[in-house]
Amino acid sequence: MVPEGRDPGRPLIANEGPLAGYPAAVDRWDAVDDFIVDNFDLDDDVLRAAVKASVAAGMPQIQVSAALGRFLNLQARAIGARRILEIGTLAGYSSIWLARALSPDGRLVTLELSAKHAQVARDNLARAGLDAVAEVRVGPATESLAALVAEGVEPFDMVFIDADKEGYPDYLEWSLRLARAGTLIVADNVVRGGAIIEPDHADSRVQGIRRFNEMLASDSRVAATIMQTVGAKGYDGIAFALVLENKAP
Ligand code: SAH
Ligand code: DHB
Ligand code: MG
Repeated sequence: MVPEGRDPGRPLIANEGPLAGYPAAVDRWDAVDDFIVDNFDLDDDVLRAAVKASVAAGMPQIQVSAALGRFLNLQARAIGARRILEIGTLAGYSSIWLARALSPDGRLVTLELSAKHAQVARDNLARAGLDAVAEVRVGPATESLAALVAEGVEPFDMVFIDADKEGYPDYLEWSLRLARAGTLIVADNVVRGGAIIEPDHADSRVQGIRRFNEMLASDSRVAATIMQTVGAKGYDGIAFALVLENKAP
């Protein structure tokens, strides 16, 4: 089965960028992602409209897959999250999945550098009926995170890190300051086609993720792991970190 819109000439091995030398796309991964979306009912008018608006605005199509969006939604529900922080909004696709996990008195704060992306995301969240629970803050995430700390906001129950990869180490530090024991920190794109096991990889994004993974692995404030993933978005992985009782470094 060839999914609609799929380029049959799409290469199997990436030949440039941080994923050079690694699988870029495998038809079967795409087909299984389609199977998951169809069988678990992971698409709807609101999500389709959000992606359509993002395509129309010329934005990169790098949102999480529907299966991962649903997974984030289920995690948030499983921990009874009332306050969720997202770093890297894009068009608000993952924001919709996360905000849908919240009760009406819950709150999603999502941070986005680009004013244009933020506006598309606000429109998408409004169309989803989630504008009352979701707040998009524009600016460099480190500044927005510092502002949240300065405001003395209540700790977040869950944090989803998915912005610029160079910033991940900083985002982890800020997330820990905005967390409590029991907070779940999730981070996207921590495998990058396997590039992250190469110590001397030339790409600064890979180096940012490498540092982030090292921090997660060695920081006694968290218990963490990484799950590798394949699918319509290629070969990557997602990190999970549980903030522990004793947060002293
Ligand atoms: N979570 C989204 C995808 C995010 S893509 C989803 O799955 O639907 C990464 C986003 O991070 C982009 O919109 C990019 O503009 C934003 N970004 C890049 N650098 C940033 C920074 N320094 N601070 C905040 N956002 C940043
Ligand atoms: C990129 C960023 C992402 O968050 C992602 O999921 C995939 C790709 C990127 O910057 O290329
Ligand atoms: Mg991502």
